[in-house]
This record gives sequence, structure tokens and C-alpha cells, in this order.
Amino acid sequence: MCASQEKRVKRFLVSLTLAWIIFSVLVSIWQTEIVPTQQSAIAQERSPGISTMSNLTTKATANASTELIETKNGAATYVGRDTCKECHAENHELHSHHGHHKTFATTNDPSIVAMFDGRSYDSGEPYGTFTYHADEEGLFARLQEKFGERKFRLQYALGSADGAVTLLSLLPDPDGKTFAIEHRVSWFRDGDELRPTPQEDNRNPQTPADFFGLRHQGKVMEKCIDCHITRGTISEQTVVDLIPGVNCEKCHGPGSEHVRLARSSKNPPKYSVGKSDWDTESEIQLCGNCHRLPVTVSRSELREYPDELARFQPVGLLRSQCFVQSQGQLRCTTCHNPHQTIAEIPESEHVSNCVQCHQETNAQHVSCPISPSENCIECHMPARALPGLSVSFHDHWIRVHPEK
Ligand code: HEC
Ligand code: HEC
Ligand code: HEC
Ligand code: HEC
Ligand code: HEC
Ligand code: HEC
Ligand code: HEC
Repeated sequence: MCASQEKRVKRFLVSLTLAWIIFSVLVSIWQTEIVPTQQSAIAQERSPGISTMSNLTTKATANASTELIETKNGAATYVGRDTCKECHAENHELHSHHGHHKTFATTNDPSIVAMFDGRSYDSGEPYGTFTYHADEEGLFARLQEKFGERKFRLQYALGSADGAVTLLSLLPDPDGKTFAIEHRVSWFRDGDELRPTPQEDNRNPQTPADFFGLRHQGKVMEKCIDCHITRGTISEQTVVDLIPGVNCEKCHGPGSEHVRLARSSKNPPKYSVGKSDWDTESEIQLCGNCHRLPVTVSRSELREYPDELARFQPVGLLRSQCFVQSQGQLRCTTCHNPHQTIAEIPESEHVSNCVQCHQETNAQHVSCPISPSENCIECHMPARALPGLSVSFHDHWIRVHPEK
């Protein structure tokens, strides 16, 4: 617990013993703490329009590819993914089904409301039962045994409905600095039910807000949002200039200049793909910025490679002989169309990705003595189920597993 939290706890406890008037003042302070009110402002910012902002996120979280565009072309601004549809209808359509597109929403989104509204979840001692309701601003939770009718505003929903959805709220601390609460309870697609969010368990909540979930501050809070959006900046208790979801311009950079040039010429100059610095390593860094790179993993994990690391595909791929020995030929898009959800890719396509290198007729590479033309993934990239998570992950350290 940090010093400012401790101070606040003491203040809270002392004031409970004071007169009723002081207590009611405290309640009103407390209410502003657990009920941020900027929700309606957020709702208006959901639809991405042409923006005049050219800076993207906070400096600490700026994304490698967008940085690249920014420095070379200071004038480029965001136009939103629907502008790209005009000329790239196919990629636009594919991307609409990808988890990337749907991974961030405000809680007044009807599909998010449907996951929680009217439901409850018993979180056990010392929390009690959370009940969920929606009003025009979005979702809120109550812990009636503890805090009566008072509402805890649930602001943002992270994760597409393909796996799980976790709620996040931004609140002010007593010094006016913003912190986030990652709600204790998430929605899971399997079973269409509420279950505990996989997070550090805090059995000793100190402030009312802590009863509702895990506290994040500073860079951890910023990155949590940044990995799920295209553009936005935390300002007080709102994400302003928000373009939710991992959209075209998160990977390709702000598109206004490309659109302007493409509208006036059939052969617009290179925008991102096809530039000399859009190579294997920078692509792995682009995807790894969110799917994680070795730098985000502890030293002992790097050494021991526990099963949990299967969640971080780039970390595994970088250890694979397929990557190490193929002179820059193997990257994420060798096997993934970055616009197409894996849910729509047939098994046969995965096999053909492997056999483009590994087949008996290709003298450059070895082929499989066990199964030269089928089921590669099952044996060499097995799926790992991880505790608390509803989706499993395929180990991208491609290798011979002794048990297979
Ligand atoms: C007015 C038509 C038009 C619009 C709008 C447009 N593009 Fe393009 N784009 C083109 C043309 C033409 C090319 C070059 C030929 C090709 O590769 O299809 C191209 C190429 C690309 C390429 C591959 C080559 C490169 O230079 O990187 C990417 C990536 C791309 N566009 C992304 C986008 C994104 C993202 C948007 C929305 C922000 C967008 N485009 C909007 C016409 C357009
Ligand atoms: C800005 C962060 C970010 C970047 C950059 C990013 N991803 Fe993702 N990716 C995510 C998030 C968040 C999800 C979870 C989506 C959800 O909620 O279902 C995801 C999910 C996925 C999925 C599984 C979901 C599906 O529908 O298939 C694949 C595959 C994937 N990403 C591949 C890639 C590849 C390949 C790249 C690089 C070309 C990349 N990602 C770059 C954040 C990112
Ligand atoms: C470094 C980037 C990054 C950060 C930071 C990050 N995420 Fe994600 N998130 C991802 C990626 C990539 C995925 C998809 C793969 C996965 O589930 O690990 C994802 C998936 C998810 C999912 C969907 C899980 C599922 O099973 O479908 C939820 C919910 C989520 N993140 C919530 C959060 C919350 C809440 C925070 C902050 C407290 C956070 N994320 C921080 C990148 C990030
Ligand atoms: C997760 C990152 C990511 C997102 C989001 C993304 N792209 Fe791409 N895009 C890439 C990568 C990486 C390539 C290079 C693919 C390759 O080399 O095979 C690419 C290639 C392209 C190309 C050229 C090749 C082709 O498929 O025609 C176009 C055009 C394009 N993207 C448009 C878009 C549009 C439009 C959107 C939004 C609807 C979008 N991209 C969203 C990463 C992304
Ligand atoms: C771009 C080419 C390429 C692709 C695509 C590729 N590999 Fe490899 N892989 C290699 C190279 C290079 C080696 C080193 C041996 C050789 O030269 O064949 C290798 C080695 C291996 C090994 C032996 C690993 C070890 O540690 O000794 C296995 C197993 C393997 N690949 C499986 C696969 C599977 C399964 C896929 C598809 C999911 C795949 N590879 C896709 C290039 C590739
Ligand atoms: C050699 C082929 C290959 C390469 C290269 C590759 N992937 Fe995958 N990836 C797969 C396969 C196969 C799956 C499982 C697909 C399925 O379930 O249908 C997968 C699944 C995923 C998923 C979904 C979660 C999971 O782990 O099952 C994500 C996210 C992902 N890959 C990201 C990446 C990123 C980021 C890179 C680059 C660092 C990358 N992949 C490179 C073959 C590959
Ligand atoms: C039933 C499990 C299984 C399946 C399915 C399978 N493999 Fe293998 N593979 C193995 C085993 C076990 C070895 C190690 C064999 C040995 O060392 O004698 C191996 C070895 C390899 C090697 C290394 C060969 C060498 O000489 O070093 C490559 C490359 C490979 N497999 C690729 C593939 C590809 C590509 C596919 C799909 C077309 C595939 N495997 C399907 C189990 C499997």
C-alpha cells in the first residue's frame, strides 16, 4: 500500500467516529470518488471522426509504428477506419470480425449492458454480492450489504465478446490524480456467465473503491488502455480523443495524408507496408508491443519458459529455430493475415503455412519424419489452457515436444 492510500484510510476511519455532519461531508467526497460522472462525454467520443489531433497517446505508450509515421510526416492525422473502407473494403470487412476491432467499448454499449444488467455475483467475504444495473450513462455496480444504494460507476469494457470482458473505471484520488479500478468480476463467453477477473486477490480492501477491484496507476493504467485502443489520452477521469479498438491506424499510422494522396493519384507513395523499415523485426515489434516482447517478461521466466508464456506469442516465436534459422523470412504475417480473425482460418491453412518451408521436396528445410503433411499445430504448437482464462493459447515456440 502506498503512503497516499494509507493517509486516506486513516482519514476515512477517523471521520467515521466524528459527528454526523462531518460524516455526511465525507460521504459526498466518497461519492464523487466512486461515481465518476463523465460518462456521457465519453459516449459522444465513441464515433471516430476526422480529428485534428496529431499526437496519439501519452509519450510512455506511443506505439512503434505510429511513431514512425509521426516523425516522417508530422501533418498526418487520424481519419477513422470507415474512411479506409472506401478503397479497402475487403480488409475493412475482415477486420470487422477480428477481436482487435471490438476490444474496447463504453459500458452504455447495448451488448455490454446485456452481459451484466440485472445479474449478480457473490464474491464472498469480505466483499459480498455485486449487483449490476444500467442507466442512460452505462453500467454501475452495488454492494448493498456494505454501501446500500450507492452506485459504483463501471466505465469502460475491455476485451471483445470472443473471450472475456473486464470492466475498468477511472477515479480521482484525494490529490486529484487519476487511478483505475479493474473490476473484480468479468463476463465470460463460455457459459455466458460472470466469474472472477484473473487478477491479484486483494483480501484486505482499504477504501470503498478497493472493494470493487484492483487498483492501477501511472504507466500500468495507461498501457492497459493503450493496448486496447487506437488513440486516446487519459484526462482526469475520462479517455479523451478516444478511438476505441485496435484499428487500421493503430498499425498503419494516422491516415489523412495517405487518403489525400490516394484520392489524387492511382499510385500513392508508400504509406506503411512496403516501406523499407516495415521488415520482419519491426513487424514483430509492432505486434509484440501488445502481445508482449521478451523485455516485458521476467528474467527467470525468460530462462525457464513456463507454460504461462504461451500467452505471449512473440516471446515464443523468437526462440523458434524456424525464426532463428530462416534469415528474416518468418514473421507474424507469414501465418496470420493481420486483418482476419483466427476464428475464420481453417486448419488446412495452418498446415500449408508450415509446409511452405517444411516439405520433402524442399531441400533447404527438413521435413517431418512423423507426419509430413498434417496436424502440425497439435504436435509442434500445442494449445495451453491457462488458469482463470477462458481462451487457450498456442505455444509459439515451435519445437518438438517430447510428450508428442
Ligand atoms: C481513396 C482511396 C484510398 C483510401 C481512402 C485509403 N487507401 Fe490505402 N491505398 C490506396 C491505394 C490506391 C493504394 C496502393 C495500391 C494498393 O496497394 O492497393 C493503397 C495502399 C495501402 C496500403 C499498402 C501499401 C502501403 O503504402 O502501405 C495500406 C497499408 C493502406 N493503403 C492502408 C490504408 C488505410 C489504413 C486507410 C484508412 C486510414 C486507407 N488505406 C485509405 C487507396 C486508398
Ligand atoms: C495495440 C495493441 C495490439 C497490437 C499492435 C496488435 N494486437 Fe493483436 N490483439 C490485441 C488485443 C487487445 C487482442 C484481444 C482482442 C479481444 O479482445 O478479443 C488481440 C487479439 C489478437 C488475436 C486473436 C483474436 C482474433 O480475433 O483473431 C490475434 C490472432 C492477434 N491479435 C494478432 C496480432 C498480430 C499478428 C499483430 C501484428 C500484426 C497484432 N495482433 C497486433 C492487441 C494488439
Ligand atoms: C501490453 C498490452 C496489454 C496490456 C497492458 C493489457 N492488455 Fe488486455 N490484452 C492484450 C492482448 C494482446 C490481448 C489478447 C491476448 C490475451 O488475452 O492475452 C488482451 C486481452 C484482454 C482481454 C480479453 C481476454 C479474453 O480472454 O478474451 C481482456 C478482458 C483484457 N485484455 C483486459 C485488460 C485490462 C483490464 C488491462 C489493464 C488492467 C489489460 N488488458 C492490459 C494486451 C494488453
Ligand atoms: C494489427 C495491425 C493491423 C491492423 C489493425 C490493420 N492492419 Fe493492415 N496490415 C498490417 C500488416 C502487418 C500488413 C502487412 C501484411 C503482409 O505483409 O502480409 C498490413 C497490410 C495492409 C494492406 C496491404 C496488403 C493488403 O492486404 O492489401 C492494406 C491495404 C491494409 N493493411 C489496410 C488495412 C485497413 C484498411 C485496416 C483497417 C480496416 C487495417 N489494415 C488494419 C497490420 C494491420
Ligand atoms: C519461413 C520458413 C518456415 C516456416 C513457415 C516454418 N518453419 Fe519450422 N523451421 C524453419 C527452419 C529454417 C528450421 C531449422 C531447420 C531447417 O532448416 O529446416 C525450422 C525448424 C523446425 C522444427 C525443428 C525445431 C528444432 O528445435 O529443432 C520444427 C519442429 C518445425 N520447424 C516445425 C514447424 C511448424 C510446425 C511450422 C508451422 C506452424 C513451421 N515449422 C513453419 C523454417 C520454417
Ligand atoms: C508459424 C506460424 C505462426 C506464426 C509465425 C505466428 N503464429 Fe500466431 N498462431 C498460429 C497458429 C497455428 C495459431 C492457432 C490458430 C487457431 O487456433 O486456429 C496462432 C494463434 C495466435 C493467437 C491467438 C491466441 C493463441 O495463442 O492461440 C495470437 C494472438 C497470435 N497467434 C499472435 C501471433 C503473433 C503476434 C505472431 C508474431 C510474433 C504470431 N502469432 C506468429 C501460427 C503462427
Ligand atoms: C503426431 C505428432 C506430430 C505431427 C502431427 C507432426 N509432427 Fe513434426 N515431429 C514430431 C516429432 C515427435 C518429431 C521428432 C522426430 C525425431 O526427432 O525423430 C518431429 C519432427 C519435426 C521436424 C524436425 C525434423 C528434423 O529432422 O529435425 C519438423 C521440421 C517437423 N516435425 C515439422 C512438422 C510439420 C510441418 C508438420 C505438419 C505437416 C508436423 N511436423 C506434424 C511430431 C509430429
